[in-house]
This record gives sequence, structure tokens and C-alpha cells, in this order.
Amino acid sequence: MANLYRDNPLSKIAWDAFQGLSALEKGPYFQREGKPYHALVAQQFTRPVLDRLCDLATQVRRIAKTRGGVLFLQDLLCEKRAMLYFTQPSTRTFLSFYAACQLLGLNPAEVRDTTTSSEIKGESPEDSIRTFSSFFDILIMRHPAGGFAERIAWLLSNTERPVPVINAGSGKDQHPTQALLDIYTLQRSFERRGGIEQKKIAFVGDLARGRTVRSLAWLLTLYPGVRQYFVAPPSLQIGDDILAALDRAGMAYEISSDLQKIIPEVDAIYMTRIQDEWDVAHESRDLDTSRYHFRVADLARLPADAVIMHPLPRRREIEPGVDGDPRAMYWRQVRNGMWIRAALLLTVFEREREIERYYQDLTS
Ligand code: NCD
Repeated sequence: MANLYRDNPLSKIAWDAFQGLSALEKGPYFQREGKPYHALVAQQFTRPVLDRLCDLATQVRRIAKTRGGVLFLQDLLCEKRAMLYFTQPSTRTFLSFYAACQLLGLNPAEVRDTTTSSEIKGESPEDSIRTFSSFFDILIMRHPAGGFAERIAWLLSNTERPVPVINAGSGKDQHPTQALLDIYTLQRSFERRGGIEQKKIAFVGDLARGRTVRSLAWLLTLYPGVRQYFVAPPSLQIGDDILAALDRAGMAYEISSDLQKIIPEVDAIYMTRIQDEWDVAHESRDLDTSRYHFRVADLARLPADAVIMHPLPRRREIEPGVDGDPRAMYWRQVRNGMWIRAALLLTVFEREREIERYYQDLTS
């Protein structure tokens, strides 16, 4: 079994001890030789790993431009199979993982509706997932319970088939691969302006329950000089845990409820929708969130070289008329998701060198 990871540190720690660790302390348990084996929390990524993933994504993107390149990519992981277990709604994350698997010849299978699996007969999700690891070489999962993907990674690490687990969105807490594609998009957007460092980046909308924001805000602590703005109604402001992480990292930030004041000041504006699926008693329904919408009229006040981002799906927080503006990056984010997820899969399966070699031949 070529995929067995015998020194998996997750097999050497008891669940209770592991559970008590902070996300930052958990990070090393998800790594193999400093690189991701599992991808579960934003806090496990280091700056060199992010830079390498972005380079790799660009190489894959360029290789995929020719038929010969596509055939080369399709051969890379053709001996592997992936299970996409998505028990929460998803369009882009699911499809971009699916497309990334297809690009690399990694055979994808899916369970998206647990009423069609034996969970309906009373099987625990833990047992269902243990079954997946008998057939598949990697588990890519989205689940409503925060920390569930970590629990599964720990459980599988203590069986004979410890397969890597990728978190494709967990509860209100983490969405590390969305944060990777956001970093890749920011990096490409600021390629000719000295990269992400020193940039001013505003998050707008539901920052309390938006897991994409929580993961990305943390990754941005790896870029010196970045100033973050958190623009939200007071009841939906960013969590104190994220602010404490920013403080520890010595990062500058501002808390605001005034989008109009922020627009002319920023290099990037990251819009999000109100995550009302987490409402307990429709509390966000009565909130006037129209002050947190970006409209066509706002484009004139946004700096000429700034970018507008959104993890999508959007509701009314960005007027569709904004889409045609060259600063609107959200549809590019979608496609970047496929490239960076392909780069992550190659890293997990340790096939990056083959990409680098092919790319060198292509460009020499
Ligand atoms: C996000 C998510 O699922 O957290 N969507 C995505 O993966 N691109 C954002 C959202 O649902 O608002």
C-alpha cells in the first residue's frame, strides 16, 4: 500500500490530548516533512508552503494549455481514487475539487446525500467514512460540524488505512482550501505591485460566521505589513480568537461598520453573504445589511488598481453590474480554485517534482 503514512503523528496522540490543542498547535500533526499530508486548518500552512503551492498552481495552469500537457497531467495520479464526501451544500468547492481530480487523472467518487448511504440505516458518519478509506486514497469532505474533519483524520490515522483528509469547509470555523485560492488570487492580482505584503485588505459582511474569512484572515498574518479591515454590523463582527491571532502576529487591523469610508482606502475588498443558515431565531433577517453591499456607484470611489473578491455564492451584496469591471475577481477566484486544489493534491501525494521537471522542459 504505497499511500500508507507510517510516521503519521496523528496516530501517536490520544484524541482528548489532541482535541485540547489550539489550531496552531494542531498544525504539525497534519504535516509530512513540513508539507501538508492532511489539509484541515489554515494555521497549518507556512509561508514557504503557500509560495510553493502558488508556484505549482501556475505551473499546472500553464502545462494544461496544451494537449500534450493535459495528457501528462492526466497520467500523474491515475492510480489513485478520491472520495468527495459533502454533506453540506456546495457548488464551486465540490466542482473545483472534482475538476482538479479529473485534471490529474485522480478518479473521483461522491457521496453528497447521506439519505442514499447506510447512514440512513443508523450507521454513524465515522463508520461510513471508515468504509470510504477501504476504497479510496484520499477523503475530501465538507461537514456542518466544526472539527469533524479533524476527528476523521485522527480516527483514520489509527486504522490500517490512514488516508489523507482535506477539509472542504467545516461548520462556521474553517475553509482552508478557499483561503488558499483567495491567497492565489491576491498574489496574482498584486504580481506587479510587490505581492500581497503591505496591502490593505477589507472583509465585509458576515464575519462572525463566514469560515472563508476566518481562514483567510489567519493566512494573511504570514504576509508582513498587511492591514486588515473588518467591516460588519456589530452583531456579525469577526471573532475575538482571530483578532487575538492577529495581535500575536503583530498585524495591524481596524474594526469598522462603515463600508463607504473604507472603499477609497483599500487594495482588496472581500465581500461575503450573510450566513443565515446558522441563525437560531432568524436574528439576521431583521438586520439592515444594505450598508454592506457593494454597488456600481461605488466603483468610482474604489482605487483603480484594487480588486473585488467574493467566495460566492452571492446574494445582493455585490450588484451584478459590478461583474464587468476589470477589478471584479470573483469569477477568476472560481477558476483559481481548480488550479490551487490541483497543486494541493499533487503536494499531498508528493508528485510536485514531476510538475516542476515538465515545466522546466516546457520553458527552457
Ligand atoms: C463559502 C462556504 O461554503 O463557506 N462558499 C464557498 O465554498 N465558496 C461561502 C458561503 O457559503 O457563503
